Amino acid sequence: MKALVLSGGAGTRLRPITHTSAKQLIPIANKPILFYGLEAIAAAGITDVGIIVGDTHEEIEEALGDGSRFGIKATYIRQDAPLGLAHAVKIAEDFMAGEPFLMYLGDNLIKEDLGQLVSEFESSGASSLILLAHVPNPSAFGVAELNEDGTVKRLVEKPKEPPSDLALVGVYLFDSSIFEAVKSIEPSWRNELEITDAIQYLLEHGCEVRHHVIKEWWKDTGKLEDLLEANRIVLEGIERRIEGEVCENSRVDGSVVIEKGARLVDSTVRGPAIIGRDAVISHSYVGPFTSISFGVTIENSEIEHSIVCENTVIRDVKRIEESLIGKGVQIVRSTSRPAAHRIMVGDSSRIEIL
Ligand code: DAU
Repeated sequence: MKALVLSGGAGTRLRPITHTSAKQLIPIANKPILFYGLEAIAAAGITDVGIIVGDTHEEIEEALGDGSRFGIKATYIRQDAPLGLAHAVKIAEDFMAGEPFLMYLGDNLIKEDLGQLVSEFESSGASSLILLAHVPNPSAFGVAELNEDGTVKRLVEKPKEPPSDLALVGVYLFDSSIFEAVKSIEPSWRNELEITDAIQYLLEHGCEVRHHVIKEWWKDTGKLEDLLEANRIVLEGIERRIEGEVCENSRVDGSVVIEKGARLVDSTVRGPAIIGRDAVISHSYVGPFTSISFGVTIENSEIEHSIVCENTVIRDVKRIEESLIGKGVQIVRSTSRPAAHRIMVGDSSRIEIL
């Protein structure tokens, strides 16, 4: 059994962050999203992992290296353009060399035990095992329609009128019959070769497609709200660990991680929250569900339910909520005249001002 991890794509719904960075490397509780998937794959006993990379290949390769830190062997497969999930499968055929594989979308986070799914697939003899989840907004996903006997009847990608509330989760198991399917389908309306259509092809050609409705949580982190929600869920599970310095007049309430080298001065951190290595929080309040990456400075400000990436400075800002702030950003209060907002932001940014 091998694995294929998809880390290409454009990340249009997370611009401007994705103008400069790969969306799969956005930190959730101070760890890149992609790392969670690779750790789960390694825990399932899979070591030979193909990683699909696109324009952001340098950044992904730098973060993952040869994969040994996760206990896997990473082989990078370059996709020239994000032509779809089934296209990514197509270009991985040589790497798979006839072996069955687990495909994992690099922007998905899933709690389900992948090892159990692999065993379920291996003992079933089916061509594919797909994961489904009940969701309130099925039109945003691939959707499955089931027969009365519970078998998969039909799959359709992002339907306007969804036939059920069962979304396709970004983890799939395939045997090599998927390669004929991805070579036979046509691009969709969004000009992508859809994996949903390839699985539909399997169904239409007499191949067995099993499904498993997941019981644990799952998040596709394609949008800001989903990222913040994933950050909230992961932080809910952290255990208190204080390795940094909590100076006088500071308070740390609940499940809070303060990493080595971080310093709290005259500040309160209310968990669940994480303060990264070498971050300095002074005269500030960091509220629940907040992840502060390494090297961040927060001075005389309040922040809650947010993700702040490395080396950013926030100074004299009354309150920030539900925000994703990139690397090396400066949000500061100006004292110079004329009193005005002075802003330099990238394309497609969003700023709400009081
Ligand atoms: O998250 C589950 C959903 O993922 C499924 O319900 C849908 O059926 C499936 O099509 C997919 O939908 P998205 O529109 O959310 O996929 P997205 O374009 O976000 O791509 C998923 C991951 O795959 C992401 O990490 C980028 C990567 N990717 C994407 C494309 C289109 C590639 O590596 N290459 C590509 O060509």
